[in-house]
Amino acid sequence: MARLDPHSHAEDNQPRTKAFDWKASVDFSARVLRAEVTLHFVEPSGGGPLDLDTRALSIDAVLGPDGAPLQHTLHAPDPILGSRLEIMVPAGAGSVAIRYRTSPEASALQWLTPKQTLGKKQPYLFSQCQAIHARSLLPCQDTPSIRQTFTASLEVPSELRAVMAAAPVPASRVVKGDRAVERFEMPQPIPPYLFALAVGDLASKDLSPRSRVWTEPAQLEAAAWEFEHVEDHIEAAESLFGPYDWERFDLLVMPPSFPYGGMENPRLTFLTPSLLAGDRSQVNVVAHELAHSWTGNLVTSSTAEHFWLNEGFTVFAERRILEALEGTEMAMLHAAIGFEKLQQAFAQLASTPDLTKLRTHLNGIDPDEAFSVVPYEKGYLFLKTLEAAAGREAFDALLASWLGAHRFGAATTNDFVTLVERVAPGLLAKVDAKAWIDGAGLPPQHWKPESARLAAVEKVAGRVPSKDETRAWSPTEWSLYLEAAPKPSPVEVCAELDAQYALTSAKNPEVLVSWLVLACESGYAPALPRVKELLAHTGRMKYLKPIYRALAARAETKPLARELFEKLRGSYHPIAQQVVRGILK
Ligand code: BES
Ligand code: ZN
Repeated sequence: MARLDPHSHAEDNQPRTKAFDWKASVDFSARVLRAEVTLHFVEPSGGGPLDLDTRALSIDAVLGPDGAPLQHTLHAPDPILGSRLEIMVPAGAGSVAIRYRTSPEASALQWLTPKQTLGKKQPYLFSQCQAIHARSLLPCQDTPSIRQTFTASLEVPSELRAVMAAAPVPASRVVKGDRAVERFEMPQPIPPYLFALAVGDLASKDLSPRSRVWTEPAQLEAAAWEFEHVEDHIEAAESLFGPYDWERFDLLVMPPSFPYGGMENPRLTFLTPSLLAGDRSQVNVVAHELAHSWTGNLVTSSTAEHFWLNEGFTVFAERRILEALEGTEMAMLHAAIGFEKLQQAFAQLASTPDLTKLRTHLNGIDPDEAFSVVPYEKGYLFLKTLEAAAGREAFDALLASWLGAHRFGAATTNDFVTLVERVAPGLLAKVDAKAWIDGAGLPPQHWKPESARLAAVEKVAGRVPSKDETRAWSPTEWSLYLEAAPKPSPVEVCAELDAQYALTSAKNPEVLVSWLVLACESGYAPALPRVKELLAHTGRMKYLKPIYRALAARAETKPLARELFEKLRGSYHPIAQQVVRGILK
C-alpha cells in the first residue's frame, strides 16, 4: 500500500470515494457546522481500513450502510496533514456515514461578524478549501486525484442565503421558523479542494443566460457593471479550448477579507471585492478563473507537486483569452508584469531554490507555505517557449489533446511529458524541458514578452516619465512601470512621482499597491497613512504580502508592520494571518 499524495492520508489500496451526500447545519453563534456525510465507494469494500483526512473535527459517530456503528480511530494530528480518521470497513460495505462537528477554528472557514460585512446587519460565512482545507469541513479523501460528485443540504438562518459551487436544486428552499434549508447537487465530479460554500445576505443579478453575479446587496450594481461582459469571456474561452462543461459560470464577489484574487470554484467563481475598481481593469482575474474550468478543474494536477499544471496552464489560457478580447498588446503587458514578479519571487526564494522548480517535492511542506508565483509565471514561460518552438497551430493542437486525454481526470508532470513526446516528438529536447521542469530558476533560452506598448514603458525605466509619455497609459502600464522601478529608489524620485501623478491617491488597487510597495521600500513616509488604510481594508494576500514585506525590510518601519498586524489580524483570514506572521518573524 502507498499514499496517493504527500498531502493526504488516502491509500491506493483502499476504497475510493465516488460520491458523497452532505448535510450541515450552520450555527453562527457557536461558529460550528453540525454535519453528517455519507461517502459512497466506487466498489464495495473487500473489508479493511479506510483512512480519511480530517482537521480539527469532532467525530460523533461512524456508521456502516446498515446504520450499525463502525470501529474507528481518530489519530493524533500531523501539523500539516491533520488527523487521520481510520475506519474499519466491513467486507461488502459500499458506503460509510460520519456524524461530526467542525471547529470554530476550521482552516477552511471564515466566520464574519455583521460589522465585518458591507451591510453591517447579518453575519457571513465562507469557505476556501484549496489547497488542503476541505478536511476541516468534512472527513474525506482530500486529494485531487480522487474526484467526487455530491449532494448537499445546508440549514441556515432563514434571513440568509446559502450558495455553493454546485447546482441549486430548483425550488428546494424550505423555511421552518427562523431556519431555512437549501439543497444542492454537483453532477460533475470534482477534486475536494473545489468544494465551496458561502452564507450571508446575498443578492444576485443576471449577466447572461448562463452567468449571474452574487454579492451583498450594497455592491450588487457595481459588481454587475464590472463583470457585465462575462459572456464574451466564456465565448472566447470556448472557441479556444472547447465547450464549457460546467453549465453555469456564476460569480460571487466576496467580503474584503477573502484571501485570494479569485478562486475557481466550479459553477461559482469566488472573487475579491478589490476587483470592483470601477474601470474593468481587472477582468483578467475573471478570465483566469474561467480558464481554470479547462485547466485545473477539467484536467487537475494530481498533487500539489504538479501545481504548475493548474496555474501555469491557466495563466497561459488567461492571456490567450485576454489576447482575443483586448488584443496582443494587453496580453504582452500582463506577461511583462508576470515576468517582473517572477524575478522578484526568485530573489525571495534564493534560500529555497527547490521551490523555483516546476515539479516540486513537498513531503513535509505545507502547500500554502510553498505557494508563490513560480508555478504561475515560470509555468507560463515554459508553455510560451514550447508554443514558440512548435508554432501556434501545432501547440494549440497539443493543448487540445492534453485537455482531451485527461478530461475529468488528474494528471502529473510525467503525463504531460509523455503526451508532448507522443504528439510532438523532439519538442521537449529542443527547449531543454528537463531544465524547466527539474531545474531551479529560468533556463537561459526562454520566450520574452515584446510589444510597442511594452517598449514605451521600458523606455522610461528608472526615471520619472513626462506627462506626454504617460498620456496613453492604462493602469496596467502604470503597474508595470512601478513594479520594474529600482527598489529602493531615491526619496526625491518618489516625491516627484507622487507630486506629478498623485499615486498615493490612486484608485486602481493594482497601481496603488505597486506604488505603495515602491514607496515603503524607498522610505517615502507620506505614503504611510494610505498604507495603513489599505492594510485595514483588504485581506487579499497578493496585496498584504508585498506591503508587509516592504515595511518589514526597513528598520524604521518594521515596528509599524508588527503593530499594524497585531491590530488588524482579527480581520484577516486564518490563511492570510499565517502567511503574514511568517513574513514578520
Ligand atoms: N486557485 C488559485 C487560488 C489559490 C491557489 C488558492 C492556491 C489556494 C491555493 C486562483 O486561481 C488564483 O490563481 N488566483 C489568483 C488570480 C490571478 C493569478 C489572476 C489570485 O488570487 O491572485
Ligand atoms: Zn489560478
